[in-house]
Amino acid sequence: MNPNAKRLVLTGLVLLLPAPFVVELTVTRAAPPLRRKAIARPRSGQQVGDLFRNNCARCHGADGRGDTPLGHTYKTPDFTDPEWWQKHSNITTSASLVSIVSHGKGGMPAFGKKLSHAEIRRLVGYVRRFKNQKPSN
Ligand code: HEC
Repeated sequence: MNPNAKRLVLTGLVLLLPAPFVVELTVTRAAPPLRRKAIARPRSGQQVGDLFRNNCARCHGADGRGDTPLGHTYKTPDFTDPEWWQKHSNITTSASLVSIVSHGKGGMPAFGKKLSHAEIRRLVGYVRRFKNQKPSN
């Protein structure tokens, strides 16, 4: 390569090189807030309380008592009532409850297609915790 051509190539490089850097800087500056947002609310990472409020509370009530208009219509159980758990001890293993929620029962629709197995398992654990929440009055 003759010296002139070499200089031309070098000048070209010097002029062209910064361009990708500038683009990259702009991109990395703009990207973090978007990424953070995506991490904060992935569908599968929904908190179990949100899952319950979004899918179950319209019948079961946010407090698990079934004290809602739909809950009354469908005779939804009161999960805070220890007697309900005692009377239904034949179906209250986690496996049975997961199966019931997946396939539906009586007035309750099937959730097996809408929610993942893992989500339903977590919801059953959440429902179980209502048992100890009956106020003492
Ligand atoms: C449309 C109203 C409705 C919705 C929505 C609903 N349920 Fe139910 N659920 C019922 C009714 C009614 C029963 C009682 C079924 C029966 O015993 O015949 C029930 C029963 C249950 C039971 C106890 C099983 C049993 O045999 O009684 C569990 C656990 C349960 N639901 C969990 C859930 C979860 C978790 C969700 C949300 C993913 C949910 N339900 C959404 C109406 C509903």
